[in-house]
Amino acid sequence: MGERVTVVEVGPRDGLQNEGTVVPSEVKVAFVEALARSGLQVVETTAFVSPRAIPQLADGATVLSSVRRRPGVRYPVLVPNAKGLERALAAGAREIAVFTAASETFNRRNVNASIEESFERFAPVLARARAERIAARGYVSCAFGCPYEGAIDPRAVAEVAARLLLAGCSEVSLGDTIGVGVPTQVPEMVGRTVEAGVPLGALALHLHDTRGTALANVAEGLRQGIRIFDSSAGGFGGCPYAPGAAGNVATEDLVWLVEGMGFETGVDLELLVDATEGVARALGRVPPSRVYHAVKAARERPAAPSSN
Ligand code: HMG
Ligand code: MG
Repeated sequence: MGERVTVVEVGPRDGLQNEGTVVPSEVKVAFVEALARSGLQVVETTAFVSPRAIPQLADGATVLSSVRRRPGVRYPVLVPNAKGLERALAAGAREIAVFTAASETFNRRNVNASIEESFERFAPVLARARAERIAARGYVSCAFGCPYEGAIDPRAVAEVAARLLLAGCSEVSLGDTIGVGVPTQVPEMVGRTVEAGVPLGALALHLHDTRGTALANVAEGLRQGIRIFDSSAGGFGGCPYAPGAAGNVATEDLVWLVEGMGFETGVDLELLVDATEGVARALGRVPPSRVYHAVKAARERPAAPSSN
C-alpha cells in the first residue's frame, strides 16, 4: 500500500462561500454527507463568520448540526473570532480552523484586522478550543502572492505559520489564495516554514487554481514531503476579498494525481463525482474539475468488448 496523503476537503466552505447562488441548507448537508461517504476523512463543513461578510454560509449552525457524522471523519469549521467559536460550539463543532494572512492589506480586507490583531483575536479562541479539547488548524492566506501587495516574502509566510503553531494550532495550511504560485516557490516556502519550527507533518498546502498551476504545485509539494493537501470537490471556490480568484484545486484532480503517483487517499472517485454532481446541479454550474468530466465521459462510453 502506498504512503497516505490526507485530503482536506474544503468544498462545503471555500467552494460555496463565493458563489452567486446560495445553496439550500439541505443540499449542503447532503453534499457534506456524500463527501464523507466517498472516503474523505476531513470535510471542512461550513464557516461561522459574519453573515454580512459571507451570506452564502449564514446557515452554518443548521448545516453542522444536521450532518449525520460518520465515525472516523472530521468536520472542521472556519472560525474568525470568539463569537464564531461560540456559535460553532453551540452547533456541535469538534474541530475548528482560524485564518490570517502573510499580507497586511489582504488581512485587513478579509477580516478587518492587522495580522497582529488577528493573533490577538485568536488567543481566546485557541485557549477555549484547547480547554474543550478541540483541534485547531491555522491558515496563512496569500502565501504565494497577494492581490493587493504582489510578491510576498517566504520569510513572512514562515513567520506567520510558526506563530500559528505556537498559538496552539496543530496544523498550518499555506494558502495560494489567488492562484499565482509556481512550483519553484514551493521548496523555499516549505523549507523556511519547517526551519521556523512547523513540522513537515503538520504542514498543508491550500492551492487555488486560477492560472492552472495548482497541480504542478501539488507535485512539487509531494517532492518536498508535504502529505496534506486542501481541495474542493469539482473545483468550486474562491474568496470575495481575492477578486478574480478561481476555486481550489479540484478534489477529483488531486486524487487522480496523487494516487497515480503511488499514494493512497482512501477516496472513491466515482462516489466523489456523485457528490460533486449534486452540488453542481444546485449551483447551476459546470464543475471546473478535469477529472470529474473524464469520469463522467467514461461512464457514458459503451463498455469495451471483452476479449473472450
Ligand atoms: P468586523 O465588522 O470588524 O467585526 O468584522 P465586529 O466584531 O466589529 O462585528 C461586526 C458585526 O458582525 C457585529 O454585528 C457582530 O456581532 C457580527 P452587529 O452588532 O453589527 O449586528 N459578527 C459576527 N456574526 C456572526 N458570526 C461571527 C461574527 N463576528 C462578528 N463570527 C469579521 C470582522 C472577522 C467578523 C468579518 O470581517 C468576517 O466575518 N470576515 C470573514 C471573511 C471571510 O469569511 N472570508 C473568507 C474566508 S477566508 C478564505 O477564504 C481564505 C482561506 O480559504 C485560505 C486561502 O485561500 O488562502 C481560508
Ligand atoms: Mg481558500
